[in-house]
Amino acid sequence: MNPTIELLKKHRSIRKFTEEPVSESTLQHLIEAGQAAATSSFVQSVSVIRITNTETRTQLATVAGGQQYVETCAEFLVICADMKRNEQLSIKQGSTPKTGFTEHFLIAAIDAGLFAQNLVTAAESSGLGVCYIGALRNDPQTVTELLKLPDLVCPLFGLCIGYPAQDPEVKPRMPLSMILHQEHYDAEINDHTLNDYDSIVRHYYATRTGGKKSQAWSEQMATFFGKESRPHMLEYLHHQGFAKK
Ligand SMILES: Cc1cc2nc3c(=O)[nH]c(=O)nc-3n(C[C@H](O)[C@H](O)[C@H](O)COP(=O)(O)O)c2cc1C
Repeated sequence: MNPTIELLKKHRSIRKFTEEPVSESTLQHLIEAGQAAATSSFVQSVSVIRITNTETRTQLATVAGGQQYVETCAEFLVICADMKRNEQLSIKQGSTPKTGFTEHFLIAAIDAGLFAQNLVTAAESSGLGVCYIGALRNDPQTVTELLKLPDLVCPLFGLCIGYPAQDPEVKPRMPLSMILHQEHYDAEINDHTLNDYDSIVRHYYATRTGGKKSQAWSEQMATFFGKESRPHMLEYLHHQGFAKK
């Protein structure tokens, strides 16, 4: 295995950080690594908002359901889907941009994911740890107001970045046979394979929590999909000018 693949397969989210700061030049390199990702139609529809203000960090941690590492990490970045810049420069070019397409939202969300994962890989290769914070979408309107986001910009997730103060185990992923289909989609789930994976995940949680939590992956998914998932998102996106048609 080459060192890049080895690094990727060692990924685990970090939620405890030392107080060591991330240097300005390192942060800049990480963001530039993010920018180097492929981008749909060269649109580059991502904006990053760096949050250093402690009061804003506290408010964002509250939005995220009290996730303390939003406050304690060395750097906290909010990754936004951004079609505003493209609208503005199109107008400067004298054209009338057509906005609000669901396709534009997909472009921006995919671009942001690729950007972020490049940044995360760059961070992990520099000895840093990262945790994505999708829980900012618990209350995207408050985030929008706090960060003064205009229409056509929306916060997708945050990134906690810092030097790790923990060394968690790698979280086991599904066996390849469950996600890799040959030639066409195969909806049948092999019970034996799933049971094996469920046991692996149950064991992972039992070890990680000293026996307090022991949940199979299937149980976890059934719980997740048994609840509504941030049902305010559609209205919020429409309000920001996204995914209207
Ligand atoms: C878009 C996105 C949002 C996430 N949001 C949160 C979050 O709000 N809080 C958190 O602790 N972890 C969050 N995570 C981390 C996932 O829980 C984690 O990646 C997953 O459980 C797999 O664990 P691993 O990253 O350690 O391999 C998020 C991950 C992604 C990709």
